[in-house]
Amino acid sequence: MRSLIEKDKAHIWHPFTQHHTAIDPIEIVKAEGVYLFDAQGNKYIDANSSWWVNTHGHGHPHIGEAIVNQFKTIDHIVFAGVTHSKAVELAERTVALLPEHLTKVFFSDNGSTAVEVALKMIVQYWFNKGENKTRFLAMHGAYHGDTFGAMSVGQRGYFNAPFEGLFFDVDYIDFPSKSNTEQLLGRAEDLFASREFAGLIVEPLVQGAAGMRMYSVDFLDRLTSLAKKYDVRIIFDEVMTGYGRTGKMFSLDHCSVKPDIIALSKGLTAGVMALGLTVASEEIYAAFLADETTKALLHGHSFTANPIACAVACANLDLFEQPLTWTSIDSICEWNNAFSEELANFDCVVNIRQQGTILAFEIQSEKGNSYFSQIKEKAYEHFMSDGILIRPLGNVIFINPPYCIKQEEYQKIQNSILRFLAKP
Ligand SMILES: Cc1ncc(COP(=O)(O)O)c(C=O)c1O
Repeated sequence: MRSLIEKDKAHIWHPFTQHHTAIDPIEIVKAEGVYLFDAQGNKYIDANSSWWVNTHGHGHPHIGEAIVNQFKTIDHIVFAGVTHSKAVELAERTVALLPEHLTKVFFSDNGSTAVEVALKMIVQYWFNKGENKTRFLAMHGAYHGDTFGAMSVGQRGYFNAPFEGLFFDVDYIDFPSKSNTEQLLGRAEDLFASREFAGLIVEPLVQGAAGMRMYSVDFLDRLTSLAKKYDVRIIFDEVMTGYGRTGKMFSLDHCSVKPDIIALSKGLTAGVMALGLTVASEEIYAAFLADETTKALLHGHSFTANPIACAVACANLDLFEQPLTWTSIDSICEWNNAFSEELANFDCVVNIRQQGTILAFEIQSEKGNSYFSQIKEKAYEHFMSDGILIRPLGNVIFINPPYCIKQEEYQKIQNSILRFLAKP
């Protein structure tokens, strides 16, 4: 009999994987709370929340109940010309959490499509208004997903080089730092002043895939104020930062200037079901209302507003309404704070940064990029052997655990990192 791994290798094409050189995947047989269990009986703390999606731990009974109940009520139905109570409930509850002007919720299936829809909304918004504006400003290092529009506004590089010729033109500003703030804002203002810009897209406060790079509320507020001044529509891609990751429900809750559109996924369903939301302002939505069908947003997916996914997203919000969730989030923020101070004692540790439940740092080396990839592999192996699943991004080690993590579990992660750093 062939093993599961052999069968996997025979038929499965995994994401972001060079199958010619990849080591065998780990067979996970169970996920519960913060733990993942493999086929050999080992257990691992899910310190990166399974691609940053999990909010309340795996196998949460309240989420499970929502899935079963919804399946018994309506499993899946078409969403054009038809509606259902869980989509309406989710839309109402989402809008209630957002600034007043964000009122219209469009459903899709994942983070990339939530962003794709946001981009299409903005392009068509200007088109419907009879204005030829299609340029976007984005930030270097951005990751907004792997569909074509989302790739176009993301960092160009080896991840998407084969497709580059097909991307639409985008202008970029560098990642902000104390020394380049004025220059970047000056450049953004010059570009916006051309009046050719349709939109600005950012991962607000934290760039996830670039290595959990963080920048200030002040910079973001100044950039978005400029966008407002020149009538440039703003998209906050909160696919990663949403649902408590930054210590508040959304990154926009830290900011004074609010976006015209927000893209949500990942933590939206507690990390359990595939769902994306694009929430737009009343003003954007109004530009699509006309007698002509062609002015409508002619976009949709077979699984739009899947009732089970919507029910799970509502159950996720129930859990966010429990004070215990926020106490846990606050505790992780405090532990991260204290751990940051401890990390600062290591000479090899640089750029320690924390935003809410996310803590990241870099391991410094003068030995170049190949050494960084060695660090990545060595760190991964070290953490796995300590029963912790952390996927470093190059030389960046980061943790963003499920919110149900207990202090002793957090300490286990902390001790493992300290042991790794103490190694010669
Ligand atoms: C900020 C951001 N936007 C979009 C995406 C794409 O989401 P998905 O992988 O669900 O398509 C990601 C995924 O990591 C992300 O971090």
